[in-house]
Amino acid sequence: MIRRVSLLFISIWLLGCSNRSIRETGLVTERAMVVSAHPLASAVGTEILKRGGNAVDAAVAVQFALAVVYPDAGNIGGGGFLVLRQKDGSTAALDYREKAPAAAHRDMYLDEKGEVIKELSLKGHLAAGVPGTVDGMVVAHQKYGSMPWAELVQPAVQLAAKGFPLTKKEAKKLNEERKDFLKYNTRRPEFILKNRWKEGDTIRMKSLALVLTQIRDRGRAGFYEGLVADSIVAEMKRGGGLITHQDLAAYHSVWRKPIVANVGEYRVISMPPPSSGGIALVQLLTISADYPLGEWEYKTAKTTHLMIEAERRVYADRAVHLGDPDFYKVPVEGLLDTAYIKRQMVGFSPGRATDSDEVSAGTPAPAESPNTTHYSIVDSQGNAVSVTTTLNSSFGAKVFVAGAGFLLNNEMDDFSVKPGAPNSYRLVGGEANAIAPGKRMLSSMTPTILEKNGKLYMVVGSMGGSTIITTVYQIILNVIAHGMPMQGAVNAGRFHHQWRPDWVLSEWGALGFGTGIRLWLMGHKIAPKVSGGIGRAAGILVRPDGRLEGGADPRGDDASAGF
Ligand code: GLY
Repeated sequence: MIRRVSLLFISIWLLGCSNRSIRETGLVTERAMVVSAHPLASAVGTEILKRGGNAVDAAVAVQFALAVVYPDAGNIGGGGFLVLRQKDGSTAALDYREKAPAAAHRDMYLDEKGEVIKELSLKGHLAAGVPGTVDGMVVAHQKYGSMPWAELVQPAVQLAAKGFPLTKKEAKKLNEERKDFLKYNTRRPEFILKNRWKEGDTIRMKSLALVLTQIRDRGRAGFYEGLVADSIVAEMKRGGGLITHQDLAAYHSVWRKPIVANVGEYRVISMPPPSSGGIALVQLLTISADYPLGEWEYKTAKTTHLMIEAERRVYADRAVHLGDPDFYKVPVEGLLDTAYIKRQMVGFSPGRATDSDEVSAGTPAPAESPNTTHYSIVDSQGNAVSVTTTLNSSFGAKVFVAGAGFLLNNEMDDFSVKPGAPNSYRLVGGEANAIAPGKRMLSSMTPTILEKNGKLYMVVGSMGGSTIITTVYQIILNVIAHGMPMQGAVNAGRFHHQWRPDWVLSEWGALGFGTGIRLWLMGHKIAPKVSGGIGRAAGILVRPDGRLEGGADPRGDDASAGF
């Protein structure tokens, strides 16, 4: 039966073919570049770099600008991860992921029979974790910033106060969310004052401008104390949420030791737990390095099969071993051990799909909407910053803090609300990622920087929930194994396997006719993923002549800018 359904899917999906060129070269600049999900945010970051700001200065300005112009995922009510590599080669990773409120508990999304209450962790006030973004930006700026804080927040204040024109895609998304905005808000949010948005309409966010002014003038205190904190807590009380003044006061982002691993001639620098991204990416690239994927060629059944089988095994590990390291002993070293990673491929057959039931997480040596958005920055000194930030789903919990005009995240759904029960990305988890007060929920965000021969080579990351890791993995392979330019590597069609459910998601045309049939004959279960595409990435590649090439994702309004 499954085979018959798969066949049906295949025939539908074979009709589609990707019209994006894998040989396209993106914007090339001499010295500095910003690639983000919105042209206005990329322009804000570039302006900061032109004024002599460094990559962290630009990252702060872009984060706040995205909170205005890209409210689906840009945020001050969410969280994220920042990975950086200084021009001297030193690295750092900042965790400003949301935390569970103190009143959260393991079974808070279950009914009296122990069943998951649909959408409770996804929509509405109870879905929100304590936001980390503002603290994260303050902390990053304190350590690495060079320009005055206020100058970095001001462009966002201006965008919110003066307004900006909506792109076609953004207008469509706001219209689609209208019903949920009405349903989940205690007061009518600004976004639905208008009935139907269209491309080119100017959208102004007066309350958000006031909140950003507080942040500009008072830094951390402008969000976690005073009027804004009062508005958040009042909103929680009206809507039955959990976040208190104490939760806000207690929120602090954390500098963590980045995941750094050598894979062939590359050094991968990425995010450690509570993201699963860095570990999973290193595992995938380490497995891939054992096979001549360049020789096997892009999009062939041989290459694609190997990649799917690697993904299946790596996501099995993710489900069992990964969670917030402040609460759960994550066996980081064991999971990154090359011998361990290779052992996970035992049972791999070049001609047959493995059933996910035959695959389980390994036993490493003990030790310790989807919507998200990524931006990549390189400044004229050669410092690089890779940031992925999120509200979780598109427009988060769909809840605006009344009078403050910003959206709250629904990051609580990234916890495993019940062992084995899939979340909105159909990811499963267990003890490592169970809810606990003050704990950070496991993430797939994979902000990454690559070095080649000791020099900065690539800055890359993506949105896309569970598909973030496979998106970043495939883009890197597109460049290092298949020789694509950065833009072509981002354009290229994507596919995804995450162990459970046991199927391969693919974009239109991503697998191609012959490969699709061959994979199906090997026993892969193939489901199409057509709407919106898989992931939305932003990459910068340092070319052999030292110039920078941007890869801005055509799946969104993303734009590269620089000089
Ligand atoms: N909210 C998506 C992630 O962090 O993986």
